[in-house]
Amino acid sequence: MKIVQVVGARPQFVKLGPVAREFEARRARGDDLDDLVLHTGQHYDDGMSDVFFRQLSLPPPAANLAVGSGGQGEQTARMLERIEAYLLQVGPDAVVVYGDTNSTIAGALAAVKLGIPVAHVEAGLRSFNRSMPEELNRVATDHLSDRLLAPTPVAMENLTREGLEGRSVLVGDVMLDAVLGAALRARLESTVIADLGLEELEFGFATVHRAENTRPERLSAILGMLASSAERLAIPFVFAVHPRTQLQLQKSDLGSTLHRAIKFIEPLSYLDTLRMLMSARLTLTDSGGLQKEAFCLGTPCITLRDETEWLETVEAGANILVAADQRRLTAALDLMQSSDRSSREVLISKARKVYGEGMASSRVVDEILVMVAARR
Ligand code: UD1
Repeated sequence: MKIVQVVGARPQFVKLGPVAREFEARRARGDDLDDLVLHTGQHYDDGMSDVFFRQLSLPPPAANLAVGSGGQGEQTARMLERIEAYLLQVGPDAVVVYGDTNSTIAGALAAVKLGIPVAHVEAGLRSFNRSMPEELNRVATDHLSDRLLAPTPVAMENLTREGLEGRSVLVGDVMLDAVLGAALRARLESTVIADLGLEELEFGFATVHRAENTRPERLSAILGMLASSAERLAIPFVFAVHPRTQLQLQKSDLGSTLHRAIKFIEPLSYLDTLRMLMSARLTLTDSGGLQKEAFCLGTPCITLRDETEWLETVEAGANILVAADQRRLTAALDLMQSSDRSSREVLISKARKVYGEGMASSRVVDEILVMVAARR
């Protein structure tokens, strides 16, 4: 059986890890399974792509379509054309897509139009904010795909509301599997804390990359919020800057006007990110992945967005949404900073439960096999 896994952006490499390992384990037991990784080339810098393949020992891509950056339509169109050509050449029994990026929608659309069954990992997420390209990608991908593999009960409810329950299964979140597989390695192998001269629990960790947050006015407000957080908690903040954000910082000269308490660094590898997260007093982010990873590691999270797809992080008390509002941020900082070791442990056990106890990737592979069998 031949399966093509389409990936292209940073969080998809993380999600691919545990699923690819599960395929490998089943192959080792004698199952006839050939999984080919198709990299669209949406992310291409070493720090955004190759380092994840090396660190997570991911199977090297069978092909890289090198689509690079571009406008939403332009980038997606380039992918669609090249993915279709690849699928025609390889003739897989199934295609797997992950998350909500342009690579996700392109992979799903190219495959279903060729009559190849598609499984969507991380199905059913909704922000209900249609100005986000990711929201449009999610909705379209779910409605196109044959098997919707939902990470959480909230995602299942969303799929049911859209009439998709017949194709949907709750499998848990493969990102928890990834965290469980790498947390000890991050603790033992990553030297990022010492390299940056930081001390355990004596710094904050920040990332910002969403299109809506990298517009000059909003980015400027967010940088002010980071500076005020550093001052209020009397700790430095480390800001790992995504290339899109870096571009804006350079264009608008925002970075140079900033407080010394913010340390700007390049995007981090997966193990360094986990190490920073587990050691930070708290994290400020607009990343969906980081909201979940912080929850899985018990680190308080403040989200610089108006809404989140990951409602369970908020319900568990692991995450507070503040958008770009200074007053909401101050209230959140005061609430979050009382978090101690035992409240972190409580969060960790809640996250394990809600995200499927580390069994998601095994259920994902089971469901892919069921989907293929149903087509034969
Ligand atoms: C994409 C996803 C988003 C995901 C994020 C993870 C879409 C619509 N969005 O957003 O859901 O959370 O990936 O990072 O697919 N760039 C580089 N080097 C790279 C990659 C990008 O310099 O290796 C720069 C380019 O200037 C590019 C910009 O970053 O134009 C944005 O990259 P793009 O892939 O379009 O979107 P992301 O913001 O990364």
